[in-house]
Amino acid sequence: MSSHDCSGDCPIARRAFLKDVSLFAGAMVASGLLPRGALAAPSPIAALSRDRAEVKYPIPAQDGVHFDDKNEVILVRNAGHVFAFALSCPHQNTALKTDPAGGGFWCSKHESRYKFDGEFISGRATRNMDRLAIRRDGTNVVVDVDKWFESDSQPTQWAGAVINV
Ligand code: FES
Repeated sequence: MSSHDCSGDCPIARRAFLKDVSLFAGAMVASGLLPRGALAAPSPIAALSRDRAEVKYPIPAQDGVHFDDKNEVILVRNAGHVFAFALSCPHQNTALKTDPAGGGFWCSKHESRYKFDGEFISGRATRNMDRLAIRRDGTNVVVDVDKWFESDSQPTQWAGAVINV
């Protein structure tokens, strides 16, 4: 797999925009305002290490959603699969949150909704959430935050960006 050519919306540029906004999800969790959906309430996750663009996390022990605001990654374990997503909405880069109605992710800017595997459900976005390259390393996963796949232009790579656990 090769790095994305960064034409069109660029998640690297999104990162500067997302610095403050991504704190919202953590605040919602802390306040108890996020109801439980199919997965446990979202929680923060700290990377074990970062080597250039490669960020290492422990494989989550159970199904759930974890936000790494520092590296702008959403790590999800769901039904035997682990995915890593870019924190920003693929439409216009707003920080994604878990859906207050449960069952996936939500973008507050134009009301787009996505399943926990990143599949687009409804709203103004035109593709699924962008998946980051991910590989297994023993009991950990390694995510490349500079290599992401867009479901409309890279459907095969997007579908393959998953770890089975
Ligand atoms: S920015 Fe997310 S749907 Fe428009």
